[in-house]
Amino acid sequence: MEKLLMGPGPSNLTESVRSALAQPALGHLDPEFLSILDETCDLLRWIFKTDNKMTFPVSATASGGMEAVVMNLVDSTSKVVIGSNGAFSLRAKAMMERQGAEIVEVNFDWGSPVDLNELNLKIDFAKPDLIWMVHGETSTGVLNNIVNIDKGDALLIVDCVTSLGGVNFEMDNWGIDVAVSGSQKCLNVPPGLSPVSFSTRAIERFKASRSWYFDLQMINDYISTAGPRTYHHTAPINMIYALKASLNDIKEHGLDETFNRHKIAAEYLYSALGEMGLKPAVESPFRLPQLTTIFIPKELQGIESQIRKDLMDKFNIEIGAGLGIFAGKVWRVGLMGANATIRNVDTLVNALGKLL
Ligand SMILES: Cc1ncc(COP(=O)(O)O)c(C=O)c1O
Repeated sequence: MEKLLMGPGPSNLTESVRSALAQPALGHLDPEFLSILDETCDLLRWIFKTDNKMTFPVSATASGGMEAVVMNLVDSTSKVVIGSNGAFSLRAKAMMERQGAEIVEVNFDWGSPVDLNELNLKIDFAKPDLIWMVHGETSTGVLNNIVNIDKGDALLIVDCVTSLGGVNFEMDNWGIDVAVSGSQKCLNVPPGLSPVSFSTRAIERFKASRSWYFDLQMINDYISTAGPRTYHHTAPINMIYALKASLNDIKEHGLDETFNRHKIAAEYLYSALGEMGLKPAVESPFRLPQLTTIFIPKELQGIESQIRKDLMDKFNIEIGAGLGIFAGKVWRVGLMGANATIRNVDTLVNALGKLL
């Protein structure tokens, strides 16, 4: 029986994604495959809301996409301001520190959003080359505001791994120079692809890549229709089919309807939790609909892992444990992509109700 994946990702695959994965493979230089790849990149431009030419899926999980960004844009001369309020801003910081970059971390409590007034003051003072923000912080369930960042001359890099496809994201209108996402959250594709997009400003500031595999210019020589499309690495053919199928499905339903479905399912979850005496860890205006962190009552904290295990063993439902300083204190419930339904909330709440 299929498990219901209501953790922080991966989410369940849709029927069309599964059937795309099962299609016959093609060669990675076969014109038939290249046109599928081109359509997939067009669909990524559509969901990122960008005209950026350099928009494609990196053949790696989202951490690989982050690393690709770092290897091509960050070195020991870089100064980076990070709005930090969870595990994934810490991951970006760790990656950039390894490249010797100077990091100005602007810290906020886990479960609270990045305050843009404070961030903008720091940016004005530090005059960084780069600003790194996490849009949907999966470790805490906070949706950070990334509109109205006074980036000055800096490039704005946004981790939209969990936000893309679940809440509005407007790369060009919001002045985002680099976006990095992942396939396994609201896109319902297996983990292993990291959609990325780069503005012209960002490309102009690429450094000599310190990674061969993540050399974005070399990858782009294969992806871009402008040149001879030379081999760099073998594209993960069937994963590209899956991504294309997923994006087509989302397009068919429309983004507004998709975002609304996430919002409705999340609000239904908050109210059902309230009836059970459980409380989301994030204040209502800052909640990320596709990932809810729930405070575990003190008396249950000692047995919280047993409750998650029972949910899995008895009901086939996965929810996530807390990460970092939230470990043992919160559960993380994902309503990602096609999983964001009232029915799934009912299934989880009924099971949890029986266990508690
Ligand atoms: C916000 C965010 N950024 C980055 C990552 C890293 O993604 P991956 O585990 O696919 O490498 C995750 C994964 O959960 C995430 O939630």
